[in-house]
Amino acid sequence: MLPARSAVLALITLLALHAQRCLAWGNLGHQTIGFIAQEFLAPNALSFVQTTLGAQYNFSLGPAATWADMVKSEPAFEWSKNLHFVDAEDDPPTSCSVEELRDCASQVCVLAAIANYTTRVVDPTLDAEQIQEALKFIDHFVGDIGQPLHVEAVAAGGNDIDATCSGSRTNLHAAWDTGMLTKNVDAVHGGTSEQYAADLIQEIKTGAFSSLTADWLSCTSTTEPVNNKRADEDAGPSIERDVRSLIAARDADATVVPLECPLVWARESNAFDCSTVFNFEPTVDPELCEGTYFTNAIPVVDLQLAKQGFRLAAWLNVIFDGATMLA
Ligand SMILES: *[C@@H]1O[C@H](CO)[C@@H](O)[C@H](O)[C@H]1NC(C)=O
Ligand SMILES: *[C@@H]1O[C@H](CO)[C@@H](O)[C@H](O)[C@H]1NC(C)=O
Ligand SMILES: [Zn+2]
Repeated sequence: MLPARSAVLALITLLALHAQRCLAWGNLGHQTIGFIAQEFLAPNALSFVQTTLGAQYNFSLGPAATWADMVKSEPAFEWSKNLHFVDAEDDPPTSCSVEELRDCASQVCVLAAIANYTTRVVDPTLDAEQIQEALKFIDHFVGDIGQPLHVEAVAAGGNDIDATCSGSRTNLHAAWDTGMLTKNVDAVHGGTSEQYAADLIQEIKTGAFSSLTADWLSCTSTTEPVNNKRADEDAGPSIERDVRSLIAARDADATVVPLECPLVWARESNAFDCSTVFNFEPTVDPELCEGTYFTNAIPVVDLQLAKQGFRLAAWLNVIFDGATMLA
């Protein structure tokens, strides 16, 4: 029989593992995305964010980005837990794809959630708390959609695939949410989301990512054509088209419009399931935080966090300043 102390420790470990199963990007990743976005906000968007979030979140999208993960285990917010992902019914690593009708027919998925909270964040009939919630959901979901395993149905987004991270038991999903990310941030980014964000901001402004940002905003950087192009498809950058059509639909009291950009973002992160994420044999070598797997994964993590942070700023800028203000 186990001594009481070990039993308690084992229970705590089990609970911790369980809690980790559904976290997205983990707090470190989400805060990093929020801090990156904060840096690129245009004046009206910045002012809205600061006023709406207040001192409780240090006036910043960084600290506010984890709220949606914290509340989803509370009874009052349990309904929101299926908004954090879209179950792409594809077949990685052989074939990757996301189809809105196939994978989000119920409208309960991250694609529809981004649309819903974009209309709500500017809905004058909502109260201050509802507006703040809408902003915190956008802050979080634009991050989640960039995590390849949040855009994958296989093995519950990799949760059911056992793996190890530096020898510790984990699963594929958790390793992508937190394990590999934490190891890398501890090793080369000072161990904090603030420093990690500062390093990625530098890459965006003057480093390796600076030549990519126009493509990030175009919503056409995927190899797959978007099949729900609208008639006004030449009317400016896609992010601006998306947000304007949403607001127009809300004013006309229409149903939620399928958006072009979130689908493109989802397809981009889902493509990494074929190129990188499922590129391992759990029974042969379950280790994800060492060697080739880790070396190949970290650039994907850096890219996805930087990209979604930048896109989050662009999205809010269009809503509050009328244009991405980042072109
Ligand atoms: C709050 O944000 C400011 C920058 O706007 C930063 O200097 C300060 O360290 C932050 N405070 C906390 C507690 O994170
Ligand atoms: C939109 O958000 C509200 C408030 O959180 C929620 O009650 C509703 O179910 C959401 N609608 C959709 C279609 O997701
Ligand atoms: Zn999430």
